[in-house]
Amino acid sequence: MPDILPVHLAIIMDGNGRWAKQRKMPRIMGHKKGVDVVNKVVRHSSRLGIKYLSLFAFSMENWKRPGDEVGFLMRLLDEYIEKELTTILKENIRFTVTGQTELIPEGTRKKLLDAADRSAANTGMVLNLALSYGGRAEIADAGRRIAELAAAGRLKPEDITEDNFLEFMYHPEIPDVDLLIRTSGELRISNFMLWRIAYSELYFTDKLWPDITEDDIDEALEDFAGRTRRFGKTDEQIDT
Ligand code: FPP
Repeated sequence: MPDILPVHLAIIMDGNGRWAKQRKMPRIMGHKKGVDVVNKVVRHSSRLGIKYLSLFAFSMENWKRPGDEVGFLMRLLDEYIEKELTTILKENIRFTVTGQTELIPEGTRKKLLDAADRSAANTGMVLNLALSYGGRAEIADAGRRIAELAAAGRLKPEDITEDNFLEFMYHPEIPDVDLLIRTSGELRISNFMLWRIAYSELYFTDKLWPDITEDDIDEALEDFAGRTRRFGKTDEQIDT
């Protein structure tokens, strides 16, 4: 494994529907297979020593999908957390959920938040599941919180800087994304982690999410390790 690992790895897990379609199966079968891959990738990343793994499991825009599919995805989530909590705790993983979770059906939301509570003291990898998540919504929510604090006289507008803005976002303890992977050949960001991806390295693979293996993750990590991250500086400034 490369000696330089991303501290924060984020993944847009795309292509479940196409995977199923290729096999003449209903789309939901692709999501079902997608959960097996989530399990593999979580275990692999945790064992490699990745500190933060963010997975885009359900976007704000996904609420617009047909009711049947949304219902199935919610049930899948429910089952996922019920089945996997034991492994999460055993692997010392801290589970967090990011997004407008108030939109998630009550029972499922409770299970997710309970899993977050029960794993809160864990010191291993943070598994950050983005659910009902939108990058613009996260920034707008932060803006609203800042405005409320300023209106209440608890914050001065001039105190807001690029450096402390993150404090007002969901899970401010989760740092910038170092490597963002998107599967399925789509070359888009789709409103994911907008604030935290400003300087991320991007990696796209044509493989569909249900076909992803540990080797594919390793390949992306190797590629990341070979990148020169300049953060706006010149090569010479980086070398010195
Ligand atoms: C994108 O595929 C995937 C999603 C919208 C959901 C991702 C969900 C999972 C991987 C399974 C659920 C996860 C957990 C943690 C329980 P798509 O449906 O957009 O595929 P398509 O672009 O081929 O139609």
